[in-house]
Amino acid sequence: MHCAAVLLASRAASAAPLRTRHAMASNLLHILPPQRLLRPLAVPERLLLGPGPSNVPPRILAAGGRQLLGHMHPEVLQVMDDIKVGIQYAFQTQNQLTLAISGTGHCAMEAAFLNLIEHGDTVLVAVNGIWGQRAADIARRLGASVHELLKPPGEYFSPWDIEEGLVQHKPSLLFITHGESSTGVLQPLEGLGKLCHRHDCLLLVDAVASLGGAPIFMDQQEIDILYSGSQKVLNAPPGSAPISFSEQAREKVLRRKTNPPSFYLDMRWLANYWGCDGEPRRYHHTAPINSFFSLREGLAMLAELGLENSWENHRVSCAQLCQGLCDLGLELFVKEEKARLPTITTVRVPEGYDWKEITAFLMDNHAIEISGGLGPSVGKVLRIGLMGCNSTSRNVDRVLHALRDALRCCRRSRL
Ligand code: GLV
Repeated sequence: MHCAAVLLASRAASAAPLRTRHAMASNLLHILPPQRLLRPLAVPERLLLGPGPSNVPPRILAAGGRQLLGHMHPEVLQVMDDIKVGIQYAFQTQNQLTLAISGTGHCAMEAAFLNLIEHGDTVLVAVNGIWGQRAADIARRLGASVHELLKPPGEYFSPWDIEEGLVQHKPSLLFITHGESSTGVLQPLEGLGKLCHRHDCLLLVDAVASLGGAPIFMDQQEIDILYSGSQKVLNAPPGSAPISFSEQAREKVLRRKTNPPSFYLDMRWLANYWGCDGEPRRYHHTAPINSFFSLREGLAMLAELGLENSWENHRVSCAQLCQGLCDLGLELFVKEEKARLPTITTVRVPEGYDWKEITAFLMDNHAIEISGGLGPSVGKVLRIGLMGCNSTSRNVDRVLHALRDALRCCRRSRL
């Protein structure tokens, strides 16, 4: 067809009512365009005060909505370099092998394990919530000999607990969760790195829920592998996850006898793509570029605010929330004040209430998300997250007001 004729035909088609165009297509296709996709995308306004994701501020949203560039364009490589130094700042590390995994925090957890573990390795996992349970599951899938150190949900591990496990099991890797989002516990890390190294063991720490909300010093605390996510304090959408390896951990990854079971998450390839190995960068996978733009801005906002200010904001909001919850007659799940995670607070489901009714009430009547428990805390707690830009005094007032309303209105299930 002549160009002008094509143009006219396409104008006529786009002017035709949707139903006609749809009917035309149905003569050829067995599967029709789904009706639901012909409706506009619906995204309501909500205040996300669950354990994550948290709301994304306009600056980060705008970054994620920028036009694409090629994944090997120098500007994108520059953004990746920005992310790298941003993670080094957030983690307080000078590790060269520092990058963002193309995936969520969970993906970073899997990346850590599958690069570090080989069949038959002995791994010690500290389990006091869902993340330890998941870590043990992942390590077992990789053929490791896994030993679990157990603590009831709501409690943390002392250095003596850890030392006992190291002496008894002689693992080559210890996994521990800094911020247990399922229980609201903050695990003290002081001395654990040294302890592990005295026992020829590497220390792997999950900081998905704590990064930017509670102090962490990767180098000073001698943490060997640290990872986090983008969707909590960093206020970026889920999809790219910071991770860093100490020199010792990097050596272990490079000295593996077998290839890691995933190509996508092979740290040797990722190190190259992220410019961490001194070699020219090679294509590995097509990175989620817009997710990198968002993460870059999340890290930039953290750098502008300053880590210490961020930690202090989270401490203050958490203290205000805890006081308000107690004033409502509610009971905090984590007894010891210093063991409370400043980003996610857990409160016992009050006697006679159904947690699902409370969370649904807040959603339906106040457009606020809070969450129930997860894993071992299911049915026991409500979880309230105040992370990054959501960690404000005004949001504390809003959620307390909504909870007061819920306690008044929600059916008492056992009455
Ligand atoms: C996710 O991190 C959760 O704790 O629900």
